[in-house]
Amino acid sequence: MAERAIPDLSLSLAYEVRLDEADVELGDRSLGLSDRHLLVEFSMLMVPAYPMETLNTAVRQDWVPVLAHPERYAGIEARYGLIQTWRDAGVVMCVNAASLWGRYGREAEWAARRMLADGAVDLVASDHHARPGRSATMRQVWDLLLEAGHDEAARLLLSENPAAILDGRDPLPVPPVDLSEGWTERLKRMVGRSR
Ligand SMILES: [Fe+2]
Repeated sequence: MAERAIPDLSLSLAYEVRLDEADVELGDRSLGLSDRHLLVEFSMLMVPAYPMETLNTAVRQDWVPVLAHPERYAGIEARYGLIQTWRDAGVVMCVNAASLWGRYGREAEWAARRMLADGAVDLVASDHHARPGRSATMRQVWDLLLEAGHDEAARLLLSENPAAILDGRDPLPVPPVDLSEGWTERLKRMVGRSR
């Protein structure tokens, strides 16, 4: 159906791998978004006691970790400095679109917005999981970033960096996105209509 509606659309399958066991075997390269990049998450939606150790489970097996929804792990506000530590270690940051309008709570919204302002987000994704009610909202993020004049960030976060990762290339740096109060209100109004 998607193929008929959007002939240029190309779909590919990958996995969000939960790093809940030390030294889990990750040798199967087909698990990745590319043969270099592996989408990973921490268990229990909490920052683990030793997060870099956890991420190193993937690094040791020659993966570049793409950390799913870093903004959503409980405790991230108090330990926000970890975001830079992870980025310095080469971990790619993939934020959920709906975190930007508070769908996953106040802490996730705070962290997602702070990360955007710091230029610390590499890509924005839907976390759609084919679940009814969790609608893909990428177009809304695109429109809102463009409306606020962040064309370059929109292109990188929603198009070029995801494409680079699927291609096994490093994402490009994303300029800081300043979210003014007016922008936030506009975003909430727009999303509120379709939620
Ligand atoms: Fe997840």
